[in-house]
Amino acid sequence: AKDVYLNWNVTWVNASPDGFERPVIGINGQWPCPQIDVNLGDQLIVDVYNGLGNESTGIHWHGIRQEGSGVMDGAVGVTQCALAPGQHMQYHFDINQTGTYWYHSHDMGQYPDGFRGALIVHDPSPPFHFDDEFTLTLSDWYHKEMPGLLNTYQSTANAQTHGAEPLPDTALINDSVSTKIKVLPNKTYLVHIICIGNWPGHFWVIDGHEMTVVEVDGVYTDPYPAGDKFLRVATGQRMSVLIKTKSDTSKNFAIWDTMDVNMMFIFENRTIPENYNPNATAWLVYDEAKPLPAPPVFHHIDFNDDFVDDVNLVPADHEPLLEPVNHQIIMDTGVTVINGVPRHTVNNKTYIAPKVPSLYTANTVGSEFSSNPEVYGQVNPFVVKHNDIVEIIINNHHNNLHPWHLHGHHFQVLQRTPVDGGFYQGLTSNVSTTPIRRDTIMVQNNGHAVIRFRADNPGVWMLHCHVEWHVEAGLMATIIEAPETFPDSVHAPPKSHYDACKAYPQQTSG
Ligand code: C2O
Repeated sequence: AKDVYLNWNVTWVNASPDGFERPVIGINGQWPCPQIDVNLGDQLIVDVYNGLGNESTGIHWHGIRQEGSGVMDGAVGVTQCALAPGQHMQYHFDINQTGTYWYHSHDMGQYPDGFRGALIVHDPSPPFHFDDEFTLTLSDWYHKEMPGLLNTYQSTANAQTHGAEPLPDTALINDSVSTKIKVLPNKTYLVHIICIGNWPGHFWVIDGHEMTVVEVDGVYTDPYPAGDKFLRVATGQRMSVLIKTKSDTSKNFAIWDTMDVNMMFIFENRTIPENYNPNATAWLVYDEAKPLPAPPVFHHIDFNDDFVDDVNLVPADHEPLLEPVNHQIIMDTGVTVINGVPRHTVNNKTYIAPKVPSLYTANTVGSEFSSNPEVYGQVNPFVVKHNDIVEIIINNHHNNLHPWHLHGHHFQVLQRTPVDGGFYQGLTSNVSTTPIRRDTIMVQNNGHAVIRFRADNPGVWMLHCHVEWHVEAGLMATIIEAPETFPDSVHAPPKSHYDACKAYPQQTSG
């Protein structure tokens, strides 16, 4: 175990990942943002300077459970104040889990402007063999910057168009449209896939290679033979597959990715423009002198098509179903117009960020959360007791899909309906005795999901749809876990976190 120390200056830089130049948020003058590589047992220390000039920021380490270090979770309005321009902040936490993660700004709908990157935790003794590894990030991409897009999205005019989300201009793989991965013949590669996008889910496949799923969201799975089927990842989700390269090096192969047109067009009753291209292509290169196969024609993966989804997977540790449930939470989620603006709701309440981070106040204010929205926001709080087995039911009353992400935990996925599968009416009889665990689940339209976790990580944890449009439109709840046991670090946050609140007392966003 070692200390991995990073010193980051966060600034605007110009980049043209798809040929269109625009300002993006980079680190130390570079964009795409760097991949962080750490080993199990390391401590990660990141000194951040906000050099943006015109925007605040804050970094979340997506999927890292922050056991005992919830104050480092980086969720602005929940675990920290925003980091104002010209200010420093230090994040430091122990890495005690392996697998595929990422980091991103968790402030003001900011990360789709480019502030996001891979975080890979290497395992000294993985349960499978591989010779080498590489990462593929998948995302939607916009030519306009988020603040302007969010203003349009959260406008009265858009309430008339049913809160339609802005459409992405392109899809990117590794923040590029020309990623080439050089491979050697007869080797086994571990491929980390991370959906770092803003909105649509992605379907992807490595052409001509058998893929075996071995991890989702940092949880090893029993090896699952996906063959050459498309795999789905929702925004925020990750997945690792093993592939074996060919002995014949005379041909190169395409890696195909397509954004879900169901989410962008079909469920929203929008016509797909004639020339719209939802695809991104990268290449597995065996021989640089040989041609690269052409990008595919338009893909439209239908929900009746045969693609690999997460519900059939089994965690490699075969952790048994958590029971009995001590605390059940039912969340009915929907869309509505509030004060003329399209908003998303949890049990009829839209999330409004507090002025003081919920973590700093959760153990003292209790019911004041609802009584003083000026200070405490409207954070849709659910208070759970230490070590309770918590079951959360998400009934999705909207005609579109929502990838729900919980901070601080991996949860078991007990049940998840198909599209139009209906709302919760109890568990069906075929719940797995060893359900898959993950930290983000795609909840399908007019359907529901049931998840469970043990409340063994005191803190205040965001539970939200990972679509950044919807975060800003209030599709978020807060799990307040065992506030009576909060560690001292919460009552006296590290100096740089405390200073952030002094420097920037008027917080406005999650
Ligand atoms: Cu990827 Cu609330 O985070």
